[in-house]
Amino acid sequence: MKFFMDTANIERIREYAELGIVDGVTTNPSLVAKEGKNFEEVIKEISSIVKGPISAEVLSLNTEGMIEEAKKLANIAPNIAIKIPMTKEGIKATYILSQKGINVNITLVFSPSQALLAAKVGAKFVSPFIGRLDDISHIGMDIVSSIRTIFDNYDFQTEIIVASIRHPRHIVEAAELGADIATVPPAVLEKIFHHPLTDIGIERFLDDWRKAFEK
Ligand code: E4P
Repeated sequence: MKFFMDTANIERIREYAELGIVDGVTTNPSLVAKEGKNFEEVIKEISSIVKGPISAEVLSLNTEGMIEEAKKLANIAPNIAIKIPMTKEGIKATYILSQKGINVNITLVFSPSQALLAAKVGAKFVSPFIGRLDDISHIGMDIVSSIRTIFDNYDFQTEIIVASIRHPRHIVEAAELGADIATVPPAVLEKIFHHPLTDIGIERFLDDWRKAFEK
């Protein structure tokens, strides 16, 4: 499973990219706004750090505006994927952009039928938001399972990005279900590195070593 970073924070992206675990990056208007920097400059900088797909989201709600924004964003770097919301206008824009060879990530997907439409019009990625479904007492991961089955049944090449990840267990479940990608916020990624038994184990090994050889 590929790991994307779900952030627009340059420092965090650089830090984790140096570990060799970052296959791409997803951003959204909220994440970019949090950084308080120029949108296009941030996207350009991210695309120079990570060679894999970088998702940049359009703000327009109509097809024409989406296409216009998409063309500008796609010109920033060859690895830009255009994030487009799952609406009728968005599906039309995706159909047009995909035919032009522009990679689209359909975002704000909350049902398998929405994912099916995205795949039909040639979206490169589809982003089911599982955490936000969990927030309203649904089982978010159920739609990932269903989307996986649908895509496999019809050999759709659209990749599933499990988004709105809240904790490491979400990552494990996404991998078990065969999702192509998990997009993970830095705070969740950081949690994977910390296990009390790992920390205690290191401490014990060093302690035994010191006792035996550092008298
Ligand atoms: C990624 O593509 C999404 O924008 C992101 O995962 C949303 O996460 P949130 O529900 O925590 O805002």
